[in-house]
Amino acid sequence: MQGNFKYYNPTKLYFGEESLSYLKDELQNFGERVLLNYGSGSVKRNGIYDQVVAILREGGKTIIENPGVMSNPTLDKLHEGVRIARENKVDWILALGGGSVCDYSKGVAASAFFDGDYWQEFWLDGHQPAAEQRILPVGCILTMAGTGSEMNGGCVITDEASNFKTGHVFDSRLMPKFAILNPRYTMTVPPEQMKAGIYDIMNHICEQYFSDFDDNTSDYIAEGLMRSLIVASRAAVNDPQNYEARSNIMWTATWALNTLIRCGKTEDWMVHMIGHSLGAWTHAPHGYCLAACSMAYYRRAMEQGLPKFARFAHAVWDIPAQGKSERELAEAGLEALKSWMLELGIPTTITEIGATAEMIDDIVSTTVIYPAGYLDLTKEDIKQILKESL
Ligand code: NZQ
Ligand code: ZN
Repeated sequence: MQGNFKYYNPTKLYFGEESLSYLKDELQNFGERVLLNYGSGSVKRNGIYDQVVAILREGGKTIIENPGVMSNPTLDKLHEGVRIARENKVDWILALGGGSVCDYSKGVAASAFFDGDYWQEFWLDGHQPAAEQRILPVGCILTMAGTGSEMNGGCVITDEASNFKTGHVFDSRLMPKFAILNPRYTMTVPPEQMKAGIYDIMNHICEQYFSDFDDNTSDYIAEGLMRSLIVASRAAVNDPQNYEARSNIMWTATWALNTLIRCGKTEDWMVHMIGHSLGAWTHAPHGYCLAACSMAYYRRAMEQGLPKFARFAHAVWDIPAQGKSERELAEAGLEALKSWMLELGIPTTITEIGATAEMIDDIVSTTVIYPAGYLDLTKEDIKQILKESL
């Protein structure tokens, strides 16, 4: 195993159908004034909001509400949340929703006591809050599986004025102090969002898996997570009320992006970078944006990473190596990935998410380029990948 790393994750998890019952105990660890962030109303329709508010009231908390956190939260909404947090002198933040609400809550928590332009400081310049800066604690009650935001420091915000969607990974001070994961809550997630979440999970694993060639325990864990996701996703798409499948998807999502399987890896986040830009221009669900450009990206990455792609075919998709060249095996693995996406009804082209050839130059212009696992990309490469994804 190559590489040096630090592993530390302070998020306490409560998992299962009874998990909300632990919220009462957790309340003792936080102040009286809680900012309750939630989305466009699903938590009111499915009754989770009422249950949570009742527990907060019983616990003697004063609730300051901030509804309307949209999918792919915007910079304007971040400003609004920061203003509400400051004006109401909140002590902590409770996120009630999916990855968007959870991400957003971390953004408000980091920015409320920052004296200056927090967008520039954290998201554009990529700095961490200073050691002496106060940060509001965040708790999370997750209603959708996908992002892993419940156990990481990620926070993705879209500046609608410039169509620029970008993430910042905050340090462990911004990881949720606790997260409540009840798979039953995810059963009301619309099918499209469930499938977008499933692909998001798959891609988080791939982004950490497709780098390096050394023998690394992280890759074996990643393969196990992918195998579990493949089984559970088929069962959940077939029967969305299948608790076993939904619980495995939720748990896999958390482990896919809670800093464990990145240990000792160089990583490759370029599908996410292209996907974020696609999301800013098309407003399609995050996971679908990743899916839409994945095949073209991985076909290209495969050229430089043949042994790893061959291993992917064999270890994840059970494709026999016998009688195949390394290239044939690698290609069969990518075909298996694509077949699984088609079987579940996940888009494999950017046309399906509303992108057109005319939009490609704009999408390229807002794509952030990082050093990638097996590739060093230029803007021209991104343009080609998007053209091949039409
Ligand atoms: O607005 P509400 O009512 O909450 O409805 C949401 C939203 O419309 C709905 N939903 C969630 N739970 C539901 C439900 N509907 C019915 N029943 C439920 N139980 O689903 C829709 C999508 O929710 P959202 O939170 O936007 O989805 P997701 O969890 O995929 O989060 C996406 C955001 O997370 C960022 C993405 O870029 C995007 O902004 N990411 C965060 C990451 C991180 N923190 O590490 C990593 C990811 O790669 C990703 O970039
Ligand atoms: Zn993602």
